[in-house]
Amino acid sequence: MQANRSVYIETYGCQMNMADTEIVLSIINKAGFIRTETLSNADVVLVNTCAVRDNAEQRIIGRLGDFNHYKKANPNVIVGVLGCMAKRVCKELMELGDFVDLVVGPDEYRKLPALIDAAVSGEKGIAVKLSRVEKYDDIDPFRTDGFSAWVSIMRGCDKFCTYCVVPFTRGRERSRSLASIVLEMEDLSRRGFKEVTLLGQNVNSYSDGEFDFADLLVKVASVDKKMRIRFMTSHPQDMSDKLIDAIASRNNICNYIHLPVQSGSNRILELMNRTYTRDQYFNLVRRIKKNIPDISLSTDIISGFPTETEDDHKITLDLLQEVEFDGAYTFKYSPRENTKAWRMGDDIPEEVKNRRLSEIIELQRNISLRRNTTIIGNTVEVLVEGLSKKSANEFCGRTDTNKMVIFPKNGDNIGDYLGIRIERVNSATLFGTKTGYALPQLAMFTTKED
Ligand code: 5AD
Ligand code: SF4
Repeated sequence: MQANRSVYIETYGCQMNMADTEIVLSIINKAGFIRTETLSNADVVLVNTCAVRDNAEQRIIGRLGDFNHYKKANPNVIVGVLGCMAKRVCKELMELGDFVDLVVGPDEYRKLPALIDAAVSGEKGIAVKLSRVEKYDDIDPFRTDGFSAWVSIMRGCDKFCTYCVVPFTRGRERSRSLASIVLEMEDLSRRGFKEVTLLGQNVNSYSDGEFDFADLLVKVASVDKKMRIRFMTSHPQDMSDKLIDAIASRNNICNYIHLPVQSGSNRILELMNRTYTRDQYFNLVRRIKKNIPDISLSTDIISGFPTETEDDHKITLDLLQEVEFDGAYTFKYSPRENTKAWRMGDDIPEEVKNRRLSEIIELQRNISLRRNTTIIGNTVEVLVEGLSKKSANEFCGRTDTNKMVIFPKNGDNIGDYLGIRIERVNSATLFGTKTGYALPQLAMFTTKED
């Protein structure tokens, strides 16, 4: 085996993919590969892909053209396609051109070192089987030290929303053991991490046979009370009272829930197989707000699902008004082959999808602004993340409610908790100045059970 070959990896799509890239790096690092941030140094080029919408795939196909170019100039380079797209369109990827040497799906990353070695000897490799057991539980993700870490707690999804390709690309749901997650948390705490995001396609249905997600959250929050715990994504169907209580019971479990609703129309929700009605969603939001008054909620909305009428769309706008999310991620419906919705056609014209999407975005922008305005004059606790994008004299950081805050840089460090008094806001960002380091009266450092 050659030592110290270098690998360049690009990651697309969701946070699960970011976490998977750390697993991939760990696996191939043990086999003697060193990560490089520069394509022109790479012996191996990997791209960890997303298949959730067509535009993500098109972007990646465009990027693969660059890698083709690179390989033409450097014929010994190995090019591999990983992730959801690898699983979805493995044959097409292999046929895309001679330059793709490997296609490896999300459950087969352990094979990468052997597949790379085979590719060096001219053998192309496809490994895209899904597993019911693979959790990469024993693999210590390759992380550079920092303040924030992803911890993947489960893989796959059993929900089969009719528009979604994930159950086909990532396979059946399976959870890591609580004990192994706690061990990872202890290690992160020792290494000085300040924030952990627990990841899964549907974290609320976490179960290791003995413990559920509420048990896991409480246990993980107790590892280090100065460490913020975030989690995503939550499916409304599995958001139990026990889980809401668990979030409310610990101050270091962030007051932020990403709770995709997808549509406000019962008819569309049913066609999507979301398994809840608009009223059930409202009830859930009511229960959450009652038990966690400071909660910040965000959501996902798909516009232009097959057969969506103007009325369905208006009911979605109406739901946004009623719930008052702090933020929303909005998507144009993208038909995905082999899903149930694929067979429903794609009957909403592009310009209608675009117009509905703009209306959703515009409305949500006003709601977010209204919500943020209520924070002006308050002091919020911020975890410093780094320089702001716009100015080297300003830092950015987040509140526990996941709001971005910009403030003058003033001798503080990334990873510090600061009290920031909010002076002005827009729909996406809060702006303020430091009032001091986060004090015990600020949320984090008083756990309710103390
Ligand atoms: N088209 C548009 N949006 C989609 N999503 C998932 N599948 C599709 C699709 N086919 C969105 C959903 C999900 C988010 C991660 O991506 O809103 O919550
Ligand atoms: Fe896709 Fe639905 Fe599973 Fe989310 S819950 S990953 S939208 S199938």
